[in-house]
Amino acid sequence: MRVVVTGGAGFIGSAVCRQLVQGHNAEVMNVDKLTYASNLGSLEALAGHPNYDFERLDICDRKGLDRIFATFEPDAVIHLAAESHVDRSISGPSAFIASNIVGSYTLLEAARAYHSNLADDRRDRFRFVHVSTDEVYGSLGETGLFVEETPYRPSSPYSASKAASDHLAHAWYKTYGLPVIVTNCSNNYGPYQFPEKLIPLMILNAIDHKPLPVYGAGSNIRDWLFVEDHAEGLIRALTHGRPGESYNFGGNCERSNLDVVKLIGRYYDEIETPTSPTSSLITHVEDRPGHDLRYAIDASKAHRELGWGPRRTFEEGLRSTVEWYLANRSWWASVRSGIYDGRRLGLLRA
Ligand SMILES: NC(=O)c1ccc[n+]([C@@H]2O[C@H](COP(=O)([O-])OP(=O)(O)OC[C@H]3O[C@@H](n4cnc5c(N)ncnc54)[C@H](O)[C@@H]3O)[C@@H](O)[C@H]2O)c1
Repeated sequence: MRVVVTGGAGFIGSAVCRQLVQGHNAEVMNVDKLTYASNLGSLEALAGHPNYDFERLDICDRKGLDRIFATFEPDAVIHLAAESHVDRSISGPSAFIASNIVGSYTLLEAARAYHSNLADDRRDRFRFVHVSTDEVYGSLGETGLFVEETPYRPSSPYSASKAASDHLAHAWYKTYGLPVIVTNCSNNYGPYQFPEKLIPLMILNAIDHKPLPVYGAGSNIRDWLFVEDHAEGLIRALTHGRPGESYNFGGNCERSNLDVVKLIGRYYDEIETPTSPTSSLITHVEDRPGHDLRYAIDASKAHRELGWGPRRTFEEGLRSTVEWYLANRSWWASVRSGIYDGRRLGLLRA
């Protein structure tokens, strides 16, 4: 199987590339623009592998995409390339509109042109997996779960741009018959995540003995999923998903932000035994504008139709993530001293 993976130098995309090449013997063409969020160090395990190739390209570049489709002749696309950080979307939405909406549109069009010229058997087998988020559904109250039929009510520029691209993806199935499968996943965590996101930011601040900034009271709830479990789900969606359908992925693991930060502190203290408890570094800071209260996923359709379920508990996954950041300083040290030093993003005033 030959798969174009977009955004393969990012957090989830690199896990997908590693699993496709190492676990499924697939041939992978990683197409990535290499934004600030990318890190080719996440793909070191695939360097020189005969089944892995990389091309630096913006998914808004239609000519470049056409060339890749024509020469690589993929059986499938897993589309992960996106601007992905809510706080950055609040400070500067423009890149989110360009990559997440225009980029997805351009990729859908390139895939449609390629797909329509395939021989019958290859056209029937072709799949386009569009990777999205549970944030498109907006916020839940204290009860209930997101199902695939939950209406879209995005709150942030990030989730609105992802919602727009999901609608385009479904429309390209309904109107043009492009065999698109949309996936909506809850918050991911694990190794190789850029340290602007909650969990790696807190781990690195604990290592540096810096304050652990919790937004507001820390009572916002997310449903956490280990990144390798998500990557497995995306590959199951590719091999077992029905075109035109959406599949929700979640960890069945709701935690408040404050509880997540406290647990990181507990594991850090158990592993490193610092002189004072890490939880004493917790500082409550101004909340995120438009901060959704709660996300929680009903993943029973993915369990039923794809035979997918998370393998790791949050406790196992989080502890191993703390250990990974401690053991892989070289992966993140240059990021912390250069591209992103941990400063607050996404406030409405400077
Ligand atoms: N991280 C999560 O918790 C989560 C949860 C659900 C869904 N998602 C979705 O999964 C996908 C991947 O998320 P992630 O956390 O790995 O993101 P990430 O920010 O770590 O990686 C995104 C990658 O996309 C690349 N990219 C961005 N714009 C591009 C463009 N115009 N052309 C080519 N490449 C481009 C970047 O260089 C980067 O390597 C995104 O679509 C995101 O919306 C993420």
